[in-house]
Amino acid sequence: DWTPDVFVESTITELKEKLGNDKVVLGLSGGVDSSVAAVLIHKAIGENLHCIFVDNGLLRKNEFESVLESYKGMGLNVKGVNAKDQFYKALEGISDPEGKRKAIGRVFIEVFDQEAQKIQGVKWLGQGTIYPDIIESVSVNGPSATIKSHHNVGGLPDKMNLKVVEPLNTLFKDGVRLVGKTLEIDQNILGRHPFPGPGLGIRILGDITAEKVAILQEVDYIFINGLKEAGLYDDVWQAGAMLLPVQSVGVMGDERTYEKVVALRAVSSVDGMTADWCNLPYEFLQDVSNKIINQVKGVNRVVYDISSKPPATIEWE
Ligand code: XMP
Repeated sequence: DWTPDVFVESTITELKEKLGNDKVVLGLSGGVDSSVAAVLIHKAIGENLHCIFVDNGLLRKNEFESVLESYKGMGLNVKGVNAKDQFYKALEGISDPEGKRKAIGRVFIEVFDQEAQKIQGVKWLGQGTIYPDIIESVSVNGPSATIKSHHNVGGLPDKMNLKVVEPLNTLFKDGVRLVGKTLEIDQNILGRHPFPGPGLGIRILGDITAEKVAILQEVDYIFINGLKEAGLYDDVWQAGAMLLPVQSVGVMGDERTYEKVVALRAVSSVDGMTADWCNLPYEFLQDVSNKIINQVKGVNRVVYDISSKPPATIEWE
């Protein structure tokens, strides 16, 4: 029978055999999967694991700094790379979702490759790929319908001439969390909602600017923090906010305003393949909406997404 303890023990043994004295490079994302994969590989080969955490300028508010600190606290050999400007520059004027994903994926590979080259004699690329990633990238990006390109699968190893090591590729998310718990990884990382690789880039509908990112980060922060404070965060599988490419009329005092609309989305799901919208309490939504409109300059309207997947997807792009 599968238990996280047995999985951890046998995986570490396998990794030791497979990797020997080789060096591995791994991109951390702040998410559960890459973090658990990193800790497993670190347990097997220690300092021969070199982690890279890229700030693509599309992360949640304060995420880069705080997550980098936790990684260091976990003893990981990690390098933080601020590449915001490179990403913003590559994204300039692109509004098409696939175009944005491709640009983000391309710059990520460039930045990551450049950092990886600095590691003498690196042979392996470590990845936090889990079972549903493999399934989704096969079925979703099948020949008939290229719906989304998941840049966290594929691309990198070919270009870099590295062998791939993916210790979690037989597990589902809940299995990964159990393994993470056995490895005593901070609940703050383990309990985290999934977050897409292209980050806020696919939650800003239309083209991306640093200003829009700043607005969405504030909105997202109020929503996510609100969920935590209300004790609702762990009941929700994934939540976030979308910045819509529409303006709507509002009033402020005697003035009419014409400002941005944001949509809040919270879903329950097991693996992201299907999802239901969460029935969050009205009082909670009201409170979050008031806070957003009062505190975030440039936003005058908040709506809540009540669509399930399918046919809607979790992300709006
Ligand atoms: P959708 O929107 O397809 O999302 O219902 C399902 C899950 O996948 C995440 N997602 C992505 N993750 N790169 C990623 O790494 C992407 O391009 C991407 N698109 C969607 C989404 O956040 C949800 O958890």
